[in-house]
This record gives sequence, C-alpha cells and structure tokens, in this order.
Amino acid sequence: MRVDILTLFPSMFDGPMTTSMLWKARDRGLLELHLHDIRDWSRGAHRAVDDTPYGGGGGMVLKADVVVPAVEQVAALAAPAPVILMTPQGRLFSHKIAVEWAALPRLILLCGHYEGIDERIVELVVTDEVSIGDYVLTGGELAAMVVVDAVVRHIPGVLGAEGAAERDSHADGILEGPQYTRPPVYRGLTVPQVLQAGNHAAMMRWRREQGLRKTWRRRPDLLMKASLDEEDRYTLAQFAHEDASRALGTTAE
Ligand code: 6GU
Repeated sequence: MRVDILTLFPSMFDGPMTTSMLWKARDRGLLELHLHDIRDWSRGAHRAVDDTPYGGGGGMVLKADVVVPAVEQVAALAAPAPVILMTPQGRLFSHKIAVEWAALPRLILLCGHYEGIDERIVELVVTDEVSIGDYVLTGGELAAMVVVDAVVRHIPGVLGAEGAAERDSHADGILEGPQYTRPPVYRGLTVPQVLQAGNHAAMMRWRREQGLRKTWRRRPDLLMKASLDEEDRYTLAQFAHEDASRALGTTAE
C-alpha cells in the first residue's frame, strides 16, 4: 500500500513511522510512505500557508490556493486514491474503516492545522473526513499516525502471526481478555489455572468469558453491535444476573 501524507510538520512522523511494526511493514515493501510538506506549495515573499478567516473569530485558516494544488499534484503521482482530511469534524474512525482501507492500494491523508481549512479545499479535493475521537488535537498529524498504524496492521504479512489482527480487541466487537506470560507466580499473583493446564477448548472458553466480562463492565455499548453466539448470550445473562443479585444484596446462585 502507498500512503501519501500532506502536512505542515513532516518531521513529526520521523519516530512513529520508523519504529516497530510500521518500520517492518516498510522494510518488507508492504508500506510505501511519502511525506509532503504543504509549505513547498506556498508562494510569494511570505510563503504563507494560512490566513485570517472571513468574518473574524480568530485563529488561522489553511489557504485553498496552496492546499488544492498540493493535493492535486500529490494525487497525480500514482494511482487514484481517496483523499482523507483529518479533522475533529469527520466521521468517527473505527476498526471497520481500518479493515476497509487496508484493502486499498493507496491512501492520501491531509492533515489540517490551526483553526481549520478553507471549505473550498474540502469541496474540490477531499473525498472523506475522519476524526479519531471526541476531543480536539492541535493538528491532524497525530491522528494520521493513528490511522496509518491501525490500517497497516491489517495488510497481510505485516503482523508476524497470520490472523493476529483477527484476534484483536474490536475484531468481533468484543474487548480482548487478560494475557499472561512467565513466571507463573509473581508477587503472590498466580496465572489462572485454566491457562496453565493446556486444555485448549477450556482455555478458549475462559478467554471468551473474560473478554465478554471486560466488555460488559467497561464498554456495554459495544455489545449492541458485537457478533455473539448462543453461549456468549448465556454468559452475558449470567453477568446480568450477578449484577442484579449484587444490587439486591442477594447472592448469585
Ligand atoms: Cl483527525 N484532527 C484533529 N485536529 N483533532 C482531532 C482529530 C483529528 N480526531 C480527533 N481530534
């Protein structure tokens, strides 16, 4: 996959994009990353990339006459691709979108900065707008790195174990349960017996129950959309029963 990122701060990408899984993906030729400095398209003595907004209100707005040619030239470098604006006003980025985008040959990410960008940029060259959560970042760069990381791990061959991404939290709408490694006892805390015993089916059942329990407690909103089988539903009914018993001061039996 080829990813082109347009930004005012290309050096922000140096660390994350040259470390760990993303570096391995690039090293294996599975990710081709191109950073483009929007300032290279600025003109005039001041090389301005932004200007004050019409109607006032403070802050600065990225100029259409700089960003539109920048995006058009970058787009023309390779195969057609969606142009995604990173903005807190975008649709919420998700596991589902990450999987969809991982199947594309190319993505173009445009990082906004300052107070915003001229709306004509959106009208002329942007095809999609995403946000990574309900909070405001200073710029789209950190969000773009989040998106690249989340997408690239779904490209076949990027993660070591085949199918590792399918076992992730969120892959089927359920959070992952706890993990353990050696030693079996640490500061008096013991690795659950079921994991040490080596009964694969029992272990899988235990893991699933732990994941369901975590989701029930922390992210019940996810359960509405999760893919659940009959056993999952029975387990959740037990949790509900436990909670109700606790609330009533009776024991769950
Ligand atoms: Cl994509 N950009 C900015 N600037 N802030 C955000 C965001 C994106 N997603 C959440 N907050």
